[in-house]
Order: sequence, then C-alpha cells, then structure tokens
Amino acid sequence: MMAKIESAACLGIHAYRVEIEVDVSHGLPQMVVVGLPDPSVKESKERVRSAIKNSGFRFPPEKITINLAPADVKKEGPAFDLPIALGILAASGVIEADQLKNHIFLGELALDGSLRPFKGAVVIAAGLKNNYSFVFPVKNAREGCLEKEAVIYPVNTLQEVIQFLKGEKQIEPLRSSNFSPSSTISKSNEGGKDFSEVKGQFFAKRALEIAVAGGHNLLMIGPPGSGKTMLASRIHTILPPLSFEESLAITKIYSVAGLTEDYGLIQNRPFRSPHHSISQVALAGGGSWPKPGEISLSHGGVLFLDEFPEFRRDVLEALRSPLEEGEITISRIKTQITYPARFLLVAAMNPCPCGYLSDRQKTCRCSLGQIQKYQSKISGPIVDRMDLHVEVPSSTLQTLTSEEAAENSETIRQRIIQCREIQAARYPDRLFKVNAFMRARDIKQFARPDSEGRKLIEMAMKELRLSARAYYKIFKIARTIADLAESENISSEHLAEAIQYRSLDRQWWG
Ligand SMILES: Nc1ncnc2c1ncn2[C@@H]1O[C@H](COP(=O)(O)OP(=O)(O)OP(=O)(O)O)[C@@H](O)[C@H]1O
Ligand SMILES: [Mg+2]
Ligand SMILES: [Zn+2]
Repeated sequence: MMAKIESAACLGIHAYRVEIEVDVSHGLPQMVVVGLPDPSVKESKERVRSAIKNSGFRFPPEKITINLAPADVKKEGPAFDLPIALGILAASGVIEADQLKNHIFLGELALDGSLRPFKGAVVIAAGLKNNYSFVFPVKNAREGCLEKEAVIYPVNTLQEVIQFLKGEKQIEPLRSSNFSPSSTISKSNEGGKDFSEVKGQFFAKRALEIAVAGGHNLLMIGPPGSGKTMLASRIHTILPPLSFEESLAITKIYSVAGLTEDYGLIQNRPFRSPHHSISQVALAGGGSWPKPGEISLSHGGVLFLDEFPEFRRDVLEALRSPLEEGEITISRIKTQITYPARFLLVAAMNPCPCGYLSDRQKTCRCSLGQIQKYQSKISGPIVDRMDLHVEVPSSTLQTLTSEEAAENSETIRQRIIQCREIQAARYPDRLFKVNAFMRARDIKQFARPDSEGRKLIEMAMKELRLSARAYYKIFKIARTIADLAESENISSEHLAEAIQYRSLDRQWWG
C-alpha cells in the first residue's frame, strides 16, 4: 500500500514543500530512502523503526520504499523522522490517508517515540501557513506561531500524533493572536555594561553615536589598551529597539541556523564579534548545506571585527557585496541561497604592528616598511567602505582616575532613537531608513549644505585631497550630525565635524 504525506524544508530563509511517499510492499524486509537525502535523513531509518515499535505499533516486516520529492533538492536533517514514521503507519493501515490531509509534519524522533525540535520552524510556518496547518514538536510550535495566522498543533510524542489524527485526542492549536505585529519590542541591557564606565574618549563616543544613529560603518584606530574593545563591547547598549517585523526577520535567520534561544523571538539587536582567524565560509555563510554566516547573524545589528588587519584578505573581501547590497547570495550547483546581511560594520586596529605610532606616551619601534606593509593590509575596497575613521588615543592617568560621571548608555540611546525617527520620516517609502544608504541623488535632495558649507567642503577637498567617495560620505555623515541636532539644514559646523571623521584620507591615503 502507498501513502503520501506533506512535509517541508528551508532553502535559506524560504520554505518549500517536501512530499514524502511511502510504499509498503511484499518483499524482503528492508527500508530504502530515495530522492537526494542527506546522510542524516538516511540515519532516520533506525530512529523511525525504534520509535514506531516503542510507541506500541507494529513495524511492517516488508519492503518499504520512501521517496522524498522534489528529487532535485537535497534534503537535510532529521526533521523528516515524523512524516516518514506517519507515512509508514499510513501505508500499513494504522491511520487513514484522509487524516493526514492539509497538515505539514516535521520533527525528529527519539528512539522512545518522543519528539525533538528541528531548525527553521518559523520560516516554514511563514512560507506555508496559507495552505496548511502544522504538526510540530512543542518547542517549535511556540516558535512557529511567532508568524501571524499560522495554526500549529503542538505535540510531544509519535503516539500523541496518532491519537490526534485518529480523533482520539483533542489538541488545541497555538495561534499567534497574542502578538501584535507593530508592537515595539523592549530591549534589555544584558551584562550590565554601560558607556558611563568609559572615562573620557568623548570623540570616540561621539563617533559611535553618529555611526549607530545614521548606520555608518566605523573604524577605530589606536594604541593597545586605549579602550577600543571596551568601547565596541558597549555598542549594543545604544542600539535602537527592534520593531516586531525586524525581530521576526532576525529570528528567521537564527532559526535556520539552529541558534534561537529556547525557540523564542529574538528581541535584541545582534552584536557579533568573530575572531580574526574566522574562515570565509563562517563569516559569509556557506558549506555543503549553506548556513548563514556571521554577516547574516549580524543582520539588523553590529558586526565587530577586532584586530582588523589580522583578518585574512579573502575573508574581508567577502564583505564587499553584502556591504553594498545588504544581503549575500551563496551559489550551489543547483540552487542559490540568499540570506539578509544588513549590518553596521565596526572595526578596530592598532596604527602599526607595535601599536604605538603617534602615541603620546610610548614610542613606536616599527620601521617605515613595517608600517606601510601593515597599513596596506587594510587599504582598498573595504576601508573605502568605512564611513567614519576615529583615532582612539590612550587616556591619561588623570582621565582614568577621574570621578567625573560620564553620560550613560540610555541617554545616548534616546538621542539615537530620536534621530532614527527623523530619518524614517524623511525616507517614508524607501527600503532604507538611515542616512548611510542615501544614493548620490538623495544626497543632492536631502543633504545640501548652505553656501558657507559648500565653501568649506571645497577647501577641504583641495587641502586634504579627498576622494570622490570621501566627498559623498562627508555629506551623509553631516546629514546625521544635523539630524542629531534636530536641524533641518546642514551647516558648516556639521560639515566641519563630519570632515574630522575622515582621518585616514588625511594621514595615509591623501
Ligand atoms: N577610557 C577608559 N576608561 C576606563 N577604562 C579604560 C579606558 N581605556 C582603557 N581602559 C581599561 O583598559 C582596558 C583595556 O582596554 P581595551 O582592551 O579596550 O583596549 P584596546 O584599545 O582594545 O587595546 P588593544 O589594541 O590591545 O586591543 C579596558 O578593559 C579597561 O579596563
Ligand atoms: Mg582590543
Ligand atoms: Zn609601531
């Protein structure tokens, strides 16, 4: 006898339907899985066999053929255990085909028949909720119903699924009605870090505020111990809150990667800080079954690259297109997977191998050749995409021991929230909502300086020999500075401040 059962899988953050056909026929007892399954699907045979027996059903001692369709997409993961088991029980007459209709089944089986969660539940719910309801392990059911209007039956064991399908047990579906899609998610400051702990460093803090407010990438340069890592590890405390839609978009990426915490909604903007030994695949995403990389796990948040010149060049090159496009496409022989990757890039480095070039207290021991070699590592396309360059000098003992209270993170964050609102109102029907993504024609429309400002920028162009790219960046940064000051006009003061954040144009590449 034959049975068909519906299941699903994720391709990136999109869902597709997988149909599972099970045929039980006379012949030597054996179980064959066809249709491009991954080894983890093949292993499901043993789990399914034990789970069926241990749930009190008879495992048919016959020839069982299982086909996963469409056959041209590779199927990954143990989540097909449940539909395969149900298919076998349907094909051997335990349940009727009708009882399986309009449901999508997924879940990994333990040998005793209990169900374990799988990756990507919220993505599958989002993609297929219009035509199906879902039978998911309890944990996934909670995650799946983050998606509005999805109907999900939470189950614990294979036996419970059978009782439910036969009508012997009522299960109340979970619905997402208690979530309002436009509600703003509050953000907690975990770890208790705060900008008030950083003494002095007003210039760097101001640059970080501008960077976060307008979405401008930032590079910090300074000697060892000057507080670059300390500053960066507090960025998350000034990030604006996420809307529900943004939270959901981030949760989908984490769900597919199997990284959601207890299958709930991700409510904080990500802050990712990969080590400089990271591979290109781990940073950009990929693998035989393309997983999201650090750049996608930073979507909506911050990617911090500490010790920037230590990253491999090919790894940094992989950042180029996502920095432009806000997403990354990973190509495989038959498929292409696109993951979102719109993040704020923050990097930190020493100015030279020993770290003390231009330090006020210690002298640099590096040769000119060493310095040039070191700095050339970060030259080119990636540094070109750094909007703000900030020098972070070492602090004096007097600053470090001062008792003067510094501004706390929440005060800075409130200014950023306000500034983001101003920007969102300026770009009501654009995909982008921050100044960093203005194109040349937007700059003409929204970031025109007054005549005094124009004179200033012309002079700066000549004196500092700024590139065309730097020229546009200065306008975008000045727009954010003006927005932070709640000023409609961009004044020469705003521009003068913006020019200060282009120290690399002046020093090394001028
Ligand atoms: N402005 C400051 N206020 C308070 N503490 C500071 C400040 N600057 C540095 N520190 C202290 O010095 C420590 C070292 O700073 P941090 O690790 O951030 O330096 P860094 O710039 O990242 O150095 P490296 O280039 O070696 O990575 C901090 O953990 C902190 O305790
Ligand atoms: Mg550091
Ligand atoms: Zn040096």
